[in-house]
Amino acid sequence: MTLPDITYTLRTASPAKTRAEAVVVGIGQGAKAVEVIAGAEDVKSAYGRRWRGMLATLGVSGKAGEVTRLPAGNEIGAQLLVLVGLGKPGADGTYSADAVRRAAGAAARAVPNATSVAVSLPADTPDLVRAVTEGYVLGGYTFTPYKSSTAKSSSGKSGGDSNGPSDVAILSAIARRTDAVTAFEEAQILAQAVAGTREWVNVPPADLTPPAFADAIAHVAELVEGVETTVYDEVQLAELGCGGILAVGMGSAAKPRLVELTYSPDDSRAHIALVGKGITFDSGGLTIKPGSSMSTMKSDMAGAAAVAQATFAIARLGLPVKVSAFVPMAENMVSGSSYRPGDVVTHYGGTTVEVSNMDAEGRMVLADALVRATEVSPDLIIDVATLTGHMVMALGDRVSGVLGSEDVVDRVLAAADVAGEQMWPMPIPEWMDERIRSSKVADLNQHDWIRWGGGLYAAAFLREFTGGLPWAHLDIAGPSFNSGGASGHLTPGGTGVAVATLVDYVREMATDQ
Ligand code: BES
Ligand code: ZN
Ligand code: MN
Repeated sequence: MTLPDITYTLRTASPAKTRAEAVVVGIGQGAKAVEVIAGAEDVKSAYGRRWRGMLATLGVSGKAGEVTRLPAGNEIGAQLLVLVGLGKPGADGTYSADAVRRAAGAAARAVPNATSVAVSLPADTPDLVRAVTEGYVLGGYTFTPYKSSTAKSSSGKSGGDSNGPSDVAILSAIARRTDAVTAFEEAQILAQAVAGTREWVNVPPADLTPPAFADAIAHVAELVEGVETTVYDEVQLAELGCGGILAVGMGSAAKPRLVELTYSPDDSRAHIALVGKGITFDSGGLTIKPGSSMSTMKSDMAGAAAVAQATFAIARLGLPVKVSAFVPMAENMVSGSSYRPGDVVTHYGGTTVEVSNMDAEGRMVLADALVRATEVSPDLIIDVATLTGHMVMALGDRVSGVLGSEDVVDRVLAAADVAGEQMWPMPIPEWMDERIRSSKVADLNQHDWIRWGGGLYAAAFLREFTGGLPWAHLDIAGPSFNSGGASGHLTPGGTGVAVATLVDYVREMATDQ
């Protein structure tokens, strides 16, 4: 994984006195003037009367995302002072976890080659300690394995002129409290899972075919205590009768796979099933996509990556909830063996589907996996999929759609809020059932060429395979991939969206009753 080699510590030191190459200090847009965050006032005092004029000369406003770097004299213990903007505080004068997470992310890229950094951002509650830690770890994520010379890399951290491993001290008034230490350690586990998801999304599709992806998941699973893996190859999928995964996968030279993961702790209090769409590349098949829409389709396995990494994080955190994860993988390609309009596919469990759009392949692989998930009798199922462009049209590229059973949807939205991920509920109208049942030759209709509400149609289709269990579907087509530049803890390429929400969902389940 392309995370810089950093050792993190949580400390109660004063930012002005801490010896480090760089000290990061949060700056906000206070009611009247630029303000230094509580806990870092000693940096301001160290500069005395020069502070205000210095900030004015540099044009420091404290707005979110603003980064100002200046050499420090003898005023403070660090050689460099890095001011990071937090924007406006809330009505109570404090900064939100989201604002802090973003500022920490920007800070991580501000001094890429420092070997020691002290970070003074709002961190006086466990939630804020978590936000600073997650933000800093993720903001420094880069993807460099395909750069022939890392010296060419402009993105920092692992650049050729790096001074090597570094120590980052997160400064917090509550650093000695056990709840703060726990939040700090758990945040690192979560951030590693998010970074692992980004990494798999970023790997070029020729190198992350279904067999390679399955191997990669199985390899990580070996390193995580308590997670068991089963990989089904194309022959075993045929024996099982997973017609959807096979239909989509048969157009590719790289054969499809189904990976199943189980984490079953002794003290488990509940059981969740996770299902993730693992299309390693989506050309659209015979319903081929225009070039511009195809260009980011290596990311069509982001749901699969998120579900696998969330399972690993839940296991590493030792949460007392059983997790069964189902990850169907296929490459949707054009060839003489591609599935075609008019074909009827028999899914795992026997439901037949008439297909007409080879680009609506996600629901085909998910249907088999959802039925597999119902067989382990979980308390609920959550699936995560880069499923429809319709959801991107509706919600944009930073908000995921959540559809399904009302209670599960509500809890997903609550978990997303804690996790700092933007999600929004969408309906599955009753009359969608008529559309998905309109096939004259099979049980269900895969697609009907009516463009309106395509994201809702897809969810209605998936629901047919959930066996009436409580269920939610997360359409992450937009937020799974960042085509723009780095901003806050978000970096270019795969984002790792949904991992944090799934982990917080399970954390909440663990405290139920
Ligand atoms: N993988 C795409 C959805 C997608 C679109 C993901 C944009 C990320 C960004 C999916 O397989 C797809 O092609 N969906 C179709 C659905 C349609 C055929 C009903 C779409 O979005 O047009
Ligand atoms: Zn797709
Ligand atoms: Mn598609």
